[in-house]
Amino acid sequence: MGEISDALRRAREREEGGAGDPASPAPRPASPSPRDAAPGSDAARDSAAQVEIPAGRSGAWRSRAVLVRSSGAAAERFRQAALRLRRELGERGVRSLALTSALRGEGKTTSACNLALALADLSSDKRFVLVDLDLRRPAVAAGLSIEAEVGVERVLSGFAEPEAALLRTQVPNLDVLPALHGSPYAHQSLASPELPRLLEWLEARYDTIVLDTSPVLLAPDTTLTLARVDAWLLISAVGVTRQRALRELFAAIPRDRLLGALVNRTSTPRHVSQYGYYHPPPGAGRP
Ligand SMILES: Nc1ncnc2c1ncn2[C@@H]1O[C@H](COP(=O)(O)OP(=O)(O)O)[C@@H](O)[C@H]1O
Ligand SMILES: [Mg+2]
Repeated sequence: MGEISDALRRAREREEGGAGDPASPAPRPASPSPRDAAPGSDAARDSAAQVEIPAGRSGAWRSRAVLVRSSGAAAERFRQAALRLRRELGERGVRSLALTSALRGEGKTTSACNLALALADLSSDKRFVLVDLDLRRPAVAAGLSIEAEVGVERVLSGFAEPEAALLRTQVPNLDVLPALHGSPYAHQSLASPELPRLLEWLEARYDTIVLDTSPVLLAPDTTLTLARVDAWLLISAVGVTRQRALRELFAAIPRDRLLGALVNRTSTPRHVSQYGYYHPPPGAGRP
């Protein structure tokens, strides 16, 4: 707790000194903002830059296994999970969904990227946006192997409008709002009124907002985020997540809007590993 108070004090001092740190909230411009555009307007989205998420198996391909269109078990598991998730989201009227976990390395970013891709694939009539709200260690851009010039952290600190950070992808119904620079003051941005404003802006344009977040047990950030979203999904990983961490996680998060849990890094049973056999070989086009 001492560390958090120190960080808050340092940030306040910086702000008073006018250093202009992107992590510090700044007054919003008085001029009319595209954020105030009529609900449903697409002008802001249409002006967003376009990126190509590589569909090859190089780099961090696990984060885009679904896009790689392999018949691999990892991609199929995410598709299956997305199918169940789609039903839950529809039944509960969830517009914003945060993916989180106890600690690092459990697969939050991997799951967020793949579930967003799989949901977009399964519901071509709906619009999805994937937002990186792990403002300590952003990883969505690296996970998708895309480059960005403006990160969502600048939007949340009042230095940029959302469309400046928004990226359209080659998946027509999936946009991405990446974060670029990790900050130890991330909790300030997530506690600011900019977060609900951004979510409102996104809800006016997208059917579902998928949010990658930071580990619940390592920083207050995700607790702040959960207070603003409709629902959350917990990620745990076989061989990574310890029981004690899981217990602490359950004690730390509110249960009211918990959708369920996704277990990552499960080993593939033999009958499932044969599943790829029923798909055309890679490169032969989609089934
Ligand atoms: N199912 C999986 N199989 C193999 N590697 C995985 C799997 N899920 C995640 N990883 C790898 O584990 C590391 C941590 O995953 P990541 O999604 O970044 O975790 P988190 O966001 O929770 O910190 C990454 O290098 C990622 O590629
Ligand atoms: Mg991550």
